[in-house]
This record gives sequence, structure tokens and C-alpha cells, in this order.
Amino acid sequence: MPTIISIASGKGGVGKSMVVSNLGLQLARKGLRVTLVDMDIGGANLHILFGMFHPPSSLTDFFTDRSVNLEDLAHLVASPLPLRLIPGTGETLITANLQHAKKKRLIRHLQKLDTDVILVDVGAGTSYHTLDFFLLADHFLAVATPDPTSVLDLYRFIKLASIRKVLTAFLARDPVAAALLNRDFHSVTEVLEAVGNANESGVELAQQALHGFHPALILNRMTPKSRINTLHLRNLLKQYVGTDLSVLGNIPEDSHVQQSILKYLPVVELAPKSPAAMAFAQVTENLIELVRQREELAEALEPRKLRA
Ligand SMILES: Nc1ncnc2c1ncn2[C@@H]1O[C@H](COP(=O)(O)OP(=O)(O)OP(=O)(O)O)[C@@H](O)[C@H]1O
Ligand SMILES: [Mg+2]
Repeated sequence: MPTIISIASGKGGVGKSMVVSNLGLQLARKGLRVTLVDMDIGGANLHILFGMFHPPSSLTDFFTDRSVNLEDLAHLVASPLPLRLIPGTGETLITANLQHAKKKRLIRHLQKLDTDVILVDVGAGTSYHTLDFFLLADHFLAVATPDPTSVLDLYRFIKLASIRKVLTAFLARDPVAAALLNRDFHSVTEVLEAVGNANESGVELAQQALHGFHPALILNRMTPKSRINTLHLRNLLKQYVGTDLSVLGNIPEDSHVQQSILKYLPVVELAPKSPAAMAFAQVTENLIELVRQREELAEALEPRKLRA
């Protein structure tokens, strides 16, 4: 089964898709078979970053036709490297009411893709779809810029994702799910309290659902003057969400990034010696190490779930 990594941000325009395209290319250069999936519903544009203006097929086909196999929607984007892209859908009407069954079908197809790594660009915002697409992964990345609004939006996103993760651990008809649905929570502790009030034995299941949910942060557009208070963000998350955040690395503000986007090429391809490209080389190493450590840990904790 492939390793699925999702990339989110909360706030839009912070560089998620740019990060996905560059990480994808770097991982493919390491010999890994990589598939990028553009789950930015309504705002899909990852294909443009590779100069693909009119994708011959996209997730729209997958959602509208049950006979379509996800594997057939993956297009090579950096031949001869093993990097493929499944273009997203701009059809918000098709996906506005994406039923649970369709999401389940998507997850089944993702797990069966003939690839080593899947990077999922989940788009901005905190809609249920966005949270669900983020949570379908094995590992979670979050992108933020030093802008305080980006940090705040990221905090909100991770808090809501944690709450959603707890909620989806219970079946739709479970009294716990009914007690959690359509309520506004300020912290995960509040959620756990509500779970306990509905069914005391549910607390353990809720805590299990959150176990291992530690998104790793990529700080983008950093300048020597950036004073991003990651410690503050980490403390907030620990206090209100109960989850820790590790910093995977920093990508500097770099005009080569804008140039690369205008040339429809990832910056690691266009300007391999640029500060941003060098930073991506390091972030890729850190990502590989993080996934290796966590998968080893997961295997040690759950010997029956050993990966093939
Ligand atoms: N490190 C950087 N240095 C300079 N410019 C950058 C950097 N990162 C991103 N940008 C600029 O930010 C723009 C937005 O990047 P991108 O499209 O990847 O963001 P996004 O988070 O995917 O946006 P959306 O939420 O709309 O999907 C890029 O087109 C580029 O001009
Ligand atoms: Mg994007």
C-alpha cells in the first residue's frame, strides 16, 4: 500500500501547491514512485504548475462515473521521472454534496494506486470535505507563512481537524456522534468531555483516534526578519488541541519561486541552486526520515498492522 501524505494550510495562498509540486519532484528523484492528487475542490490548479493547461481527465471523471478507475487518471508530469499527477476538479456543484460513499470509494482507490507515495493537496479552508481529505492520510503536513493570520488559520485548521477526527471515530448513529454534531467546541478537551457525558466508554476510542495525530509544519516565505512564533503555536496546540507539532523545515522567500511558477516548472527543476531549491532538498530528507521513524513506531506498536 502506498504511504499517503496530506498537505494543508488553513489559509489560502501560502504555498501549499508549490510545496506539493517540489516535494513530489524531489521524492521522485530519489527513485520513489510518486503520485500527486489535487483535492483542492473548486480551486484545483496543481496541473498548471506543471504546464498542463487542459488535463485530458481529472477527478471530475472519477466522481461522475463509477466505472472510472483512479489509476487511469494519473498523468506523468516529469517524464522520465516516476512522478504522476491526478488533476483536481473545478466542478464545485459535483462535489458540494459529496456523499460519504464517494469519499470511501476515493480512499479505496487511493490505497490501491500503483505508487510508493501519494501527496494530497487538500486546498485551503476548513470545510468538512477539506478536513476529511486531510484526514484520509497516514502522515500530515501543514504549510504556514510567518504572517500571523496564516498561523492563526493553521491553528484553527488543526483544531477542527482534531475534532473531526474524533467525530468520525464514532458511527453516524452512535449517541456520541449525535452529541458532537453541529456543536462549536473551543478545545479538544471540551470535545472529550462531551464524549464522556454521552458515553463514558467512548472517551478511550476518542483518545485513540487522536493518538499519533501530530502534523509536521513547513514554514514558507521565511525572511531574515520573520519572527514566526512557532513556540506560541505549539503551546496553543498543546493546550487546546493536545497535539504536538514538529517543524519539518523552512523555505525562504525567493524570487526564483515566482519565476518557476511563470515557467510552469518546480523551482527544484528550474533553479536547483536557488535558496528555495536547496531548502526543499533538506525538507525532503527530513520528510523521509519522519515517515521512516513514524512507520517504524507504528509497526512496533501495532505488530499486526505491519506494512507489506
Ligand atoms: N517561497 C516563496 N517565495 C516567493 N514566492 C512564493 C513562495 N511560496 C509561494 N510563493 C508565491 O505564492 C503564490 C501562491 O502559491 P501556491 O499557489 O502554491 O499557494 P497555495 O497555498 O496552494 O494557494 P491556494 O490556497 O490558492 O491553493 C505562488 O504563485 C508564488 O508567487
Ligand atoms: Mg493551491
